Amino acid sequence: MPSTVLVLNGPNLNLLGSREPEIYGHETLSDIAALCERTAESLGIAVDFRQSNSEAELVNWVQEARTSRAGIIINAGALTHTSVALLDALTASSLPVVEVHLSNIFRREEFRRHSYISLAARGVICGLGSQGYELALAAVARLIAKPSKRTASTQKTASKKTPAKGKRTR
Ligand code: DQA
Repeated sequence: MPSTVLVLNGPNLNLLGSREPEIYGHETLSDIAALCERTAESLGIAVDFRQSNSEAELVNWVQEARTSRAGIIINAGALTHTSVALLDALTASSLPVVEVHLSNIFRREEFRRHSYISLAARGVICGLGSQGYELALAAVARLIAKPSKRTASTQKTASKKTPAKGKRTR
């Protein structure tokens, strides 16, 4: 059975398509869900795509994911900038987390530049619209496929680079 990645969407993302299209584009959340399904299939993983306007529900889903999902992709919407509860749940999950935003939060109001979610995230993708979800899925697929191999090859490279005793390197 393929590993399943939880793709979480927070408040107001159910309105995509009609909500400020000049910022968030014309795609609906269903379009993005379909894109995630297609992308996941091509990566050999599965997705569990969800949206909620409730912080409590999102926290509960993250808690459930601890034992049933291989990674989490999250666009927490406005909760990105306010929710310590969601940060704590993501941290407690010990799963690889990638944070996504459709808009470039650094080109917008000052208050959007701070993200609590980032403290629990392995990576952050923003400003690329729905493509951000595709990139996040590719990143999580790689993180869950080869965690030990990557560590081993990093160690190998590091030991190769260590100069032999007494030898000077420039
Ligand atoms: C958002 C950015 C947030 O600041 C905002 O509150 C959202 C959407 C994005 O995808 O660009 O709801 O997360």
